[in-house]
Amino acid sequence: MAFVLPYPLYLLLLLLLLLLLLQLLPFSAVAQTYKNISLGSSLTALDNNSFWASPSGEFAFGFQEVGSNGFLLAIWFNKIAERTIVWSANANNLLQKGSKVVLNADGQLLLNDAATSKQLLLADSAGMEVAYAAMLDTGNFVLANRNSRYLWESFTRPTNTLLPTQTLNQGTILFAPTTATNYSKGRFMFTLQADGNLLLYTTHYPWDSANFAYWSSQTEGIGYQVIFNQTGAIYLASKNGSILTTVLNNTASTTGFYHRATLDYDGVLRYYVYPKSTNSSGVWLKAWSTLSIIPSNICVSISQDKGGGACGFNGLCQHDQGPSCQCPVGYSFIDPNDELRGCKQNFVQQSCDGTSPETDLFYFEEMQNTAWPQSDYEKFTPVTEDWCRQTCLADCFCAVANFRNGDCWIKSIPLRNGRIDPSNGAKALIKIRRGNSTLKPEHAHSRRKNRSTLILVGSVLLSSSGFLNFLLVLITYMVVSGFYFKKGKVVQPYSVIPGMNLICFTYEELNKATNGFKEELGRGAFATVFRGDLESDNGRSVAVKRLNTTVKESELEFKAELSAIGRTNHRNLVQLIGFCNEGEHRILVYEFMSNGSLASFLFGESRPSWHQRRQIALGTARGLLYLHEECSSQIIHCDIKPQNVLLDDSFIARISDFGLAKLLKTDQTRTTTGIRGTKGYVAPEWFKNMPITTKVDVYSYGILLLEIICLRKYFEAEAEDEDQMILADWAYDCYVEKKLHLLFDNDDEAVHDIKNLEKYLMIAFWCIQEDPSLRPTTKKLTLMLEGTVEVSIPPDPSSFTSSIL
Ligand SMILES: *[C@@H]1O[C@H](CO)[C@@H](O)[C@H](O)[C@H]1NC(C)=O
Ligand SMILES: *[C@@H]1O[C@H](CO)[C@@H](O)[C@H](O)[C@H]1NC(C)=O
Ligand SMILES: *[C@@H]1O[C@H](CO)[C@@H](O)[C@H](O)[C@H]1NC(C)=O
Ligand SMILES: *[C@@H]1O[C@H](CO)[C@@H](O)[C@H](O)[C@H]1NC(C)=O
Ligand SMILES: *[C@@H]1O[C@H](CO)[C@@H](O)[C@H](O)[C@H]1NC(C)=O
Ligand SMILES: *[C@@H]1O[C@H](CO)[C@@H](O)[C@H](O)[C@H]1NC(C)=O
Ligand SMILES: *[C@@H]1O[C@H](CO)[C@@H](O)[C@H](O)[C@H]1NC(C)=O
Ligand SMILES: *[C@@H]1O[C@H](CO)[C@@H](O)[C@H](O)[C@H]1NC(C)=O
Repeated sequence: MAFVLPYPLYLLLLLLLLLLLLQLLPFSAVAQTYKNISLGSSLTALDNNSFWASPSGEFAFGFQEVGSNGFLLAIWFNKIAERTIVWSANANNLLQKGSKVVLNADGQLLLNDAATSKQLLLADSAGMEVAYAAMLDTGNFVLANRNSRYLWESFTRPTNTLLPTQTLNQGTILFAPTTATNYSKGRFMFTLQADGNLLLYTTHYPWDSANFAYWSSQTEGIGYQVIFNQTGAIYLASKNGSILTTVLNNTASTTGFYHRATLDYDGVLRYYVYPKSTNSSGVWLKAWSTLSIIPSNICVSISQDKGGGACGFNGLCQHDQGPSCQCPVGYSFIDPNDELRGCKQNFVQQSCDGTSPETDLFYFEEMQNTAWPQSDYEKFTPVTEDWCRQTCLADCFCAVANFRNGDCWIKSIPLRNGRIDPSNGAKALIKIRRGNSTLKPEHAHSRRKNRSTLILVGSVLLSSSGFLNFLLVLITYMVVSGFYFKKGKVVQPYSVIPGMNLICFTYEELNKATNGFKEELGRGAFATVFRGDLESDNGRSVAVKRLNTTVKESELEFKAELSAIGRTNHRNLVQLIGFCNEGEHRILVYEFMSNGSLASFLFGESRPSWHQRRQIALGTARGLLYLHEECSSQIIHCDIKPQNVLLDDSFIARISDFGLAKLLKTDQTRTTTGIRGTKGYVAPEWFKNMPITTKVDVYSYGILLLEIICLRKYFEAEAEDEDQMILADWAYDCYVEKKLHLLFDNDDEAVHDIKNLEKYLMIAFWCIQEDPSLRPTTKKLTLMLEGTVEVSIPPDPSSFTSSIL
């Protein structure tokens, strides 16, 4: 039995089928119907509703307000909430309200700028017999003649987007916008060159010439046209139509989705789809497959010789879901709305002024898997990480060091092609100014600048907390600048030795500063040290050392000696600030060290950490190395002991009293003892009429190192066991008998690092060899401590006992 439908129902079904068919063929049948825009029509920029829509309403041509900056003549997707712009005419030159686009009687398309009353010719189609204009459902805006032949098309003048049915011909360029919201020409371009090669380039932004190609189809000579197929594939075809390569591919249905391919501001060409259904998520979906973006990882692709890379100078590119830009620690975006402009330092760069190196004002932040390939200006290998850090700290050009497996790359600003990538395994050491404290007045007189830096160093060293630091610096700066401004000229309270930052104090000044040499900090064989506050320097604390010498050396010689010391400058030496040479008085003024001496640190109440002790041992050795080998004239300290190693507020070891030996050389030959130095730390050659060399300091250092390792004084009369009285003896016994644990009772931290402890012990034994020639040079000593040079088994240094007691 047949079921017969009533006739009108048949009709209805047929109609529905027809509608469905029309839906399925959006690009063919429907696209052909359009509304004609007749000559003489115009649009005025007033709001976002001034446009000519395509017949389906899916695209519109007209004015869009961009933020509150002005109007863009554009083509956009008009049926979705996010009116996505696919083409624009004036991105580099936004128009004011009231501007007009006119299709005049001659068939020309003109843009009238309301602000300047200037006319911009968009389509010079006069005399070409333009009959009408039309916004097509493909997204193409056309000017056509009476026979509907297109004389001008927006499709052949793309900005940054390709749409289905659009082709990209040879010589055509897509420019990325500057940012997601600023459509002006940005930093990347996509072009099918006249030679047939399809490329992605960075530009010489803000110029739009090609710079570095970061993706290429490698189709020189054969590429002819890029075709955006209706089926969702973008491919490069040769002249005969054969497919050379698929550029992008997408499998989303062409009926259920809007499609586009856009060169985004970040330099990535992406295929996007947007569901047409009313209850869709309402966002453009990207990355359906790996074939829907090129390049696949722009962070790696861009590695250009000139220019900053994917994220701009100093920036870092990280590829996760897509590329994202960030700044290294201590840096921030120059423009948070335009991250590709790169990053700036949040602090003032290190001064390269040789007289006031700011080594101590900087520290490192570590970033893992972070590198700036091609930004290095020096490379060292093989070195230790610590060596790498010190080198960067001491180098005012160094902004970042990269360290990996003994390789140390030193890099300077601006850093280029930065990226964070787990595969690179490099550690970046970012050099940052402590607490951002600096006192570099921008238009300062050069002398004033010097003084400010001096004050700064003092303030930083004296205060312990970063905030206090900052306050102190600020107040100091305000007082100092106020002082200068009031006087209207530079006031020079001290006389300064030319070429040095040494201040010549009067005795009265120092007498006042120390309150009549009242607060004694320490006393040595040749001098007494007092604490003082320089009134003329905003109460800056200093250590004032009064020499007990009565030797009348000539003025000249005294100054010559002083300049040798005054010019020394190292982070592990206490800095000499000035002196007094008045009548009988010989006084030296040093920086004040807030954390006292190593002696009180080692043998005080609390147990200092092994890590800290290692750093101090290393710092002391570096200070010695500088005195022995690196400064202009060799200085033998002659009195290395824990009392003469001071600690600044970062617990960095600073050798003090250096050069006293040299200063008192003539004196020394006349003294009755004849021996410079302190019992227990004195090298045997002092007793043997042997030449005194730098090796005497190495010897003293060896004893000091034992004390640092074992947290014990070199001699303890009340030791439980007679064998334990002399530290060097006992330590060597423990070492030979492999009973190291006896040395480090209740020092869990040290025991966990027993390998290094043993190594340091061996180094100490090498240093205290009786024969000076067996002792390492200071250079070798430093290298051994750093771990760059192997430490061999030391011979028995036993004979030293005789000289100790
Ligand atoms: C037009 O649209 C843009 C972007 O959606 C918006 O910022 C602007 O305020 C709108 N202008 C008007 C007049 O509605
Ligand atoms: C648009 O104008 C052309 C040429 O005058 C004409 O052939 C075509 O039918 C017109 N289309 C519409 C939809 O009016
Ligand atoms: C867009 O960026 C360009 C280049 O940085 C700038 O000159 C222009 O003012 C920006 N436009 C807007 C609307 O922010
Ligand atoms: C391009 O589209 C045509 C017609 O829609 C189809 O026959 C052809 O297979 C498509 N080519 C590719 C590479 O997708
Ligand atoms: C089309 O051109 C390509 C590249 O020039 C060539 O490899 C191919 O053989 C040509 N195909 C035909 C059918 O001519
Ligand atoms: C696009 O991708 C689909 C599946 O991912 C594949 O079947 C098709 O051949 C691809 N088209 C082109 C032109 O590469
Ligand atoms: C819209 O959403 C509802 C409920 O989430 C769902 O049942 C319906 O199928 C959706 N319609 C379309 C066209 O996706
Ligand atoms: C540090 O100082 C610089 C220069 O004076 C300044 O631009 C920057 O904002 C400061 N940074 C911080 C974190 O205070």
